[in-house]
Amino acid sequence: MNFQFTEEQLAVQAAARDFAQTELLPGVIERDEHQKFPAEQIKKMGELGFLGMMVDPRYGGGGMDAVAYVLAMEEISKVDASASVVMSVNNSLVCWGIENFGTEEQKQKYLTKLATGEIIGAFCLSEPEAGSDATSQRTTAEDKGDHYLLNGTKNWITNGSTASVYIVIAQTHPEKKHRGINALIVERDMEGFVVGAKENKLGIRGSDTHSLMFTDVKVPKENRIGEDGFGFKFAMATLAGGRIGIASQALGIASGAYELAVKYAKERKAFGVEIAKHQAIQFKLADMATNIEAARLLCLQAAYDKDTHQDYAKSGAMAKLFASKVAMDTTIEAVQVHGGYGFVKEYHVERLMRDAKITQIYEGTSEIQKIVISRELLA
Ligand code: CAA
Repeated sequence: MNFQFTEEQLAVQAAARDFAQTELLPGVIERDEHQKFPAEQIKKMGELGFLGMMVDPRYGGGGMDAVAYVLAMEEISKVDASASVVMSVNNSLVCWGIENFGTEEQKQKYLTKLATGEIIGAFCLSEPEAGSDATSQRTTAEDKGDHYLLNGTKNWITNGSTASVYIVIAQTHPEKKHRGINALIVERDMEGFVVGAKENKLGIRGSDTHSLMFTDVKVPKENRIGEDGFGFKFAMATLAGGRIGIASQALGIASGAYELAVKYAKERKAFGVEIAKHQAIQFKLADMATNIEAARLLCLQAAYDKDTHQDYAKSGAMAKLFASKVAMDTTIEAVQVHGGYGFVKEYHVERLMRDAKITQIYEGTSEIQKIVISRELLA
């Protein structure tokens, strides 16, 4: 792995840092409190190319590598994880899925708009009774010749009400189990598609998470991604890359909290000196920085594996498993360093602590990452 970033990677990192500080930081506390989707900010992120970073420029994307994506995700997530989850889902799950497995028509029709942020997408796998056990899909896509008839409910869908395009995973041939599942591109205005209530969440409160209901939605056959029965493999392959995005989000939440803790420790005085002069605080900062560095290396390793066309299912799962734990541990310690101030909203660290928890849950819980890792180890 090359530890020297290219000029382009460094420029992307600097642009993401600048955007996060100037455009996302103002109002982030209010958006969290009122569960307000960062609509204007997401529009600007699209204009700056953050929503289709790795997509081929032929389809309107930035043509960048996964390392640049990790660097940008970290910077955005330091400030606003509600914005970075939109970025992660659109880049890793929706754009990547269509670019790698979609038809040329699907790319022209959907990817060109998704990559520029003109529209955003959602990835719909989870169901009320199929979260970790992703093969147990109850949503059905009945083959009706020239179209599929889609029926069922999806849960916890990021970009649930703001997306225009939804990749929906559904069962067509139940007797074939996971080999009978399909991935369909569903448009927001297709008849029979209803967006349910918004979830009132612990963290990433600015992102819009909804359940979705499909009742006899007619989805044209040309909207199926890949061959008949490819849907589960599509979901697994897509999630493998998605986990690099969420690992980088966790990394950003951790490093954002760490930077705030260092700043506060240098300002706040107790027992006559800045608290940074007390070993009790120094030990915490040293642990935080060491863990963050290790998480960053795992994220970059997974990105490097992806960029060099090596298998990244294991390295991506390791990065997510470790970085999400580091996000949780670091944000808890950052609140502790801040003392009472850490418990109030103005100091940001309590929000980062709440946001950190979801990184151990979505795109596969920490337990699922261990399953993915151990299967690869034992294969
Ligand atoms: N790439 C391609 N194919 C893969 C793959 C990968 N990385 N991983 C597995 N597959 C294939 C396997 O080869 C197998 O195919 P064959 O049978 O044809 O050989 C098939 O997929 C089934 O694999 P498994 O036997 O490993 O499947 P399983 O039922 O045992 O499940 C699991 C494995 C890892 C537990 C899986 O169900 C899983 O990942 N669950 C978690 C689901 C998840 O992450 N959900 C997140 C929802 S999206 C989200 O959260 C987005 C958001 O809001 C931000």
